[in-house]
Amino acid sequence: MQTDPDQTPYELIGGAETVRNLVNAFYARVAQDPDLSPIFPDDFTEVREKQYMFLTQFLGGPHLYSQVHGHPMLRKRHLPFPITPRRAKAWLACMSRAMDDIRLQGPVRDFIFARLSQVARHMVNQPDDTSR
Ligand code: HEM
Repeated sequence: MQTDPDQTPYELIGGAETVRNLVNAFYARVAQDPDLSPIFPDDFTEVREKQYMFLTQFLGGPHLYSQVHGHPMLRKRHLPFPITPRRAKAWLACMSRAMDDIRLQGPVRDFIFARLSQVARHMVNQPDDTSR
């Protein structure tokens, strides 16, 4: 992915400032998404901060999320919410657009997106509603 094997994705994209910008752009998209917004609270302040902390450690930065909230156990924490394949797709589409918004490009973007795609698939906890 890169010539310097010691650099984490976190460092490669520009650290805290970039993660903050990405998370802000992402939830602005989520708030506008007809599939996603109904399952999120009206106020994104808390989830935005948690996601900032989670992504920081997920990308190889400081372990902010675990320091405050313990083991991520992401699938378990998502179980109270109906996460369908359709919503996983919508989540990833919001993330891809957020990456466009902040002009995150190149192999590091592809690498991060591929890893987030794996996690998103893992979060799915119920089938699509076929009655719609
Ligand atoms: C697959 C589609 C996904 C959906 C529909 C979804 C939806 C949600 C919802 C509804 C919440 C809770 C908001 C609240 O507190 O009321 C949440 C929390 C969270 N999500 Fe997701 N999520 C998805 C995928 C992901 C992925 C891929 C990640 C990580 C890369 C992630 C990371 C988080 C984190 C860190 C939290 C906060 C957990 C906590 O400490 O409470 N989510 N998500």
